[in-house]
Amino acid sequence: MSQFVKAAETTEVQPGHCLGVKVEGVFIGIYNIDGNYYAMNNICPHLGGVLSYGFLDDNVVTCPLHMWEFDVKTGKCLWPEQEKLPTYPVKVEGNDILVDVNPPQTH
Ligand code: FES
Repeated sequence: MSQFVKAAETTEVQPGHCLGVKVEGVFIGIYNIDGNYYAMNNICPHLGGVLSYGFLDDNVVTCPLHMWEFDVKTGKCLWPEQEKLPTYPVKVEGNDILVDVNPPQTH
């Protein structure tokens, strides 16, 4: 069921940084790109690297293990071209970052 739940506080994710958190059993990375927040699944589909431990350059995170690259806004794997990772709707209420890890399916 679709539902926004608190995942972190805004002070925990400064611009240009990310934070790995578990929300309703889903391990996600929350990214602050120029003051806007994005949430993407935090497990690299290659061999399970934790993407929030990776290197963030603008909106592209590089996996710390073997350097696969993902656009954190879309979940698209930029290098090598692979399936995209799930992304999740985010909204901010006061100091709280809310994420919906069960958004309605669009297909
Ligand atoms: S585990 Fe992420 S690139 Fe290999």
